[in-house]
Amino acid sequence: MAGDSPVDLRSDTVTRPTPGIREAMARAEVGDDVFGEDPTVNALQERAAGILGKEAALFVPSGTMANLLAVVSQTQPGDTVILHADSHPFNYESGGLGKVAGVMTKTLGGSQGILDPDEVASAVVLSDDHHFSHTTLVSIENTTNRGGGAGYPIEIIESIGRVATSNGIQLHCDGARLFNAVVATGIPARDYVAPCNTVSCCFSKGLGAPVGSVLAGSRETIRRAHRYRKMLGGGMRQAGVIAAAALYALEHHIERLAEDHRRAQAFRTALEGTSPFTFPMDSPTNIVYLDVPDAYALIGEVASRGVFALPVSPTRIRAVFHLDVDDQGLARAIDAFSAAAKAAE
Ligand SMILES: Cc1ncc(COP(=O)(O)O)c(C=O)c1O
Repeated sequence: MAGDSPVDLRSDTVTRPTPGIREAMARAEVGDDVFGEDPTVNALQERAAGILGKEAALFVPSGTMANLLAVVSQTQPGDTVILHADSHPFNYESGGLGKVAGVMTKTLGGSQGILDPDEVASAVVLSDDHHFSHTTLVSIENTTNRGGGAGYPIEIIESIGRVATSNGIQLHCDGARLFNAVVATGIPARDYVAPCNTVSCCFSKGLGAPVGSVLAGSRETIRRAHRYRKMLGGGMRQAGVIAAAALYALEHHIERLAEDHRRAQAFRTALEGTSPFTFPMDSPTNIVYLDVPDAYALIGEVASRGVFALPVSPTRIRAVFHLDVDDQGLARAIDAFSAAAKAAE
């Protein structure tokens, strides 16, 4: 990282393709993927299905589309989906659950974005009484975005899986940052999502690819998702150019997520005890939330020192560590936040 270029901690989506990614994209073999003829897309889908332990996978433009396809492929309009009140699909996906999937949402709480299996069990409705919408899907998020990058304990996913199976309903995992959870816990991805019928993963976040996500599940569910992807305008042609970036990211950028977690911890440790910062939740992976009296003023002070972070409320700031923040960037971020704190005194 150049010494004077900004350090951008707003999101792990801001990463720029590395030389290795650009080279892989330039060399990609391509075909028309709407005809199923792009060899690089096909290779990516097979590789992703293998890593995630599912029968099939579908390459899609975004995590938002992957989550939406999981819902439209496994529910009927009028059904109810259970998810956390802080979940990404409920908060940040433009109301697609209502507008496109036509489902009702039942939101639950739970520390750091993690659902409680007993609460899920109590929220499931399958009554014969004609007044009620039936629950047909539970959606979890691993790691949790608004929950500070927390990873689900695998036992909780297994418990929620048992609740789903015993009620004959589906379980989806929004794994936009699944590999952060994998690296933080050492649990292989396929084991982590074994209780889930479907899982989405993003290549464009910590993994550093410029675009793309995948939805994995049974062959039958992915066949349905393929149709809906086309319906939503997500059929891409010579998509091998971007699939090559995703393949490269899977090969080279998973293990290094541990560096992002280390830097997030170091950032937090350096600022702990510094007024006015308080930390509303744990930061076990790459996302750090800080509470301050005036987030917009503090963000402005930090930005004037070449460091960008995201105000998520008038009193809460998010800082995310990723591929484009090295140790020098970390040091600059700590300096900028410390100086901004002094300026705010
Ligand atoms: C947890 C989670 N799910 C889904 C998404 C959506 O991904 P995309 O921006 O690719 O649509 C995001 C994006 O930040 C996310 O954090």
